[in-house]
Amino acid sequence: MAPARIVVLISGTGSNLAALLAAQQERECPFEIVGVIADRAASGLAHAQSAGVPTAVVRKGDHPDRAAWDEALAREVAALSPDLVVLAGFMKLIGPPLLESRPGRIINTHPALLPSFPGAHGVRDALAHGVKVSGASVIEVDPGVDTGRILAQRAVDVLPEDTEETLHERIKVVEREMLVDVVRELSRTLAS
Ligand code: GAR
Repeated sequence: MAPARIVVLISGTGSNLAALLAAQQERECPFEIVGVIADRAASGLAHAQSAGVPTAVVRKGDHPDRAAWDEALAREVAALSPDLVVLAGFMKLIGPPLLESRPGRIINTHPALLPSFPGAHGVRDALAHGVKVSGASVIEVDPGVDTGRILAQRAVDVLPEDTEETLHERIKVVEREMLVDVVRELSRTLAS
């Protein structure tokens, strides 16, 4: 059975991407990362480059408006013919051209227990609210901000001395494992 073709979208350091790339090396991995796309010169692109995976940068600033960028991103993804698109720290909303071309085939990982604390500052917002337990969620992407169907969640205790950085680092540990598990599981379904 051919492995499911995965495209990963990133904006940052790419530790989730690195976990997916590592999992791909395991025997009988049901997926293959066929391309990584960033919306900026993300440092995480280096993980893909050292694994020999093609990369592209589609910057909003290189396009006349948001709609043109949405189209360009959708074209770049379509050229890779993915079975599944994984947003792994991609800090932009996905516009209609990409979203409507792949219904149910785009997932996102988020560093909070959705539906609480959606958006770009999930860890900071959860800490500011004083939660004692937070965690990570993997969801199906829909047109809203982190409103899609929840596919998996893992909890992380918040410690009294936590800062945004320390909590986020502990969340990322469980987030990476969860994301790899979800991508493996979906890939098996897609490939069968
Ligand atoms: C991850 O924790 C991810 O959940 C978060 O960005 C981090 C990226 O880390 N995404 C969001 O906050 C999206 N709302 P990474 O670049 O090291 O994988």
